[in-house]
Amino acid sequence: HGTSKVNARGHLEIGGLDTVELAEQFGTPLYVYDVALIRERARGFKQTFENLGVTAQVAYASKAFSSIGMVQLVDEEGLSLDVVSGGELYTAIAAKFPVERIHFHGNNKSKEELEMALKYKIGCIVVDNFYELELLESVCESMDTNTKILLRVTPGVEAHTHEYITTGQADSKFGFDLQNGQAEKALTIALASSRMEVLGLHCHIGSQIFETAGFLIAAQKIFEKLNEWKESLAFESEVLNLGGGFGIRYTNEDQPLPAAQYVAEIIEEVQKQVEKYAMNMPEIWIEPGRSLVGDAGTTLYKVGSRKEVPNIRQYVAVDGGMSDNIRPALYQAKYEAVLANRALETTCETVSIAGKCCESGDMLIWDIPLPKPGSDDLLAVFCTGAYGYAMANNYNRIPRPPVVFVENGQAKLVVKRETYEDLIRMDLSIKEKINN
Ligand code: LLP
Repeated sequence: HGTSKVNARGHLEIGGLDTVELAEQFGTPLYVYDVALIRERARGFKQTFENLGVTAQVAYASKAFSSIGMVQLVDEEGLSLDVVSGGELYTAIAAKFPVERIHFHGNNKSKEELEMALKYKIGCIVVDNFYELELLESVCESMDTNTKILLRVTPGVEAHTHEYITTGQADSKFGFDLQNGQAEKALTIALASSRMEVLGLHCHIGSQIFETAGFLIAAQKIFEKLNEWKESLAFESEVLNLGGGFGIRYTNEDQPLPAAQYVAEIIEEVQKQVEKYAMNMPEIWIEPGRSLVGDAGTTLYKVGSRKEVPNIRQYVAVDGGMSDNIRPALYQAKYEAVLANRALETTCETVSIAGKCCESGDMLIWDIPLPKPGSDDLLAVFCTGAYGYAMANNYNRIPRPPVVFVENGQAKLVVKRETYEDLIRMDLSIKEKINN
């Protein structure tokens, strides 16, 4: 997919570069991002809204992969940016991302984080709960400033992959419940505040979603309430943010819709609702993470040891694992892989790819056909662009791998490999008398 292909040497190539050479130049493990594919995905979302004639903002959910280079790329493509912590906001500011296009999410933003958001005058704060409503009011007061907000509501729809559940009341840590009066109460408070300008509502119903039904039902539930509030609170939602969650294909078990189709079906439903209740069409915001960067990322590993459990399994170990991709261990997530240096070979055996961390659960892929991987072969695991580096960790004191952007035959290092010195940089000796 994307710009990846197999070249004449039988090597996997991404962005016009031979992955064997990338591994030699930058070492392994290595995250490689196909920049052209990210641009294509970003433009695809924007184009879809344009074709439908709908005013929209597409915000990249930077939790999927945040780094200065990535944020700069998002800016180059003219998207907005969703941040969920002071750290992600700091990264955006360091990347000089236009502050008016930053949205701040989170169910427990601290006073310091809210102060930071207000100091930089970011575009919008997505208020999640009553505590935050009060805290934000008082922080605005003490800084003598004001802010635009969205209210995050929980419509009682939860969607994962193919299933979605609807309940009268959503058992979720996020947002104001739409059904039990919380959302209305929050809106009443926010509308009365001279410090907050309520742009509209936000909801996010889940991640890695394959069907649109959950989005449509969420929209219907929101519009039912908007219709009530038109009268009772004289409130009209200028903006409706329907979150992210559009699924991608990791393996053949996954059958997502094309991104444009999610958007088109959602817009069609919103337009229906707008007509039904004789409202103005709100500006539609979405905030995809995974579907912008997921399949653009590939992780390259070097194959090392092997262990045979006779008649049961061939374990093939690589030089990374749950420290750079925790998703298989955490979510039983499945991935596809090839031997990047022998990509044309077809005589395969079934092996299981083990990580190098000291725990049995550190398996990247179970039972995958590969052409007899041996030590020093290069394994490419696909679709690691979302929540891979973002959730990487230093378990077993393994340094985090670097990230390289490739495009048009050019490689650009955007995150350096951690060093052993980096690993102990925060450590303090108990042998020092004064150590602070
Ligand atoms: N907006 C909000 C408010 C969210 O909570 C999320 C993801 C997104 C947008 C982006 O969702 P996406 O388009 O990426 O599905 N670590 C998990 C995924 C957690 C997603 C959390 N929220 C994983 O690796 O699958």
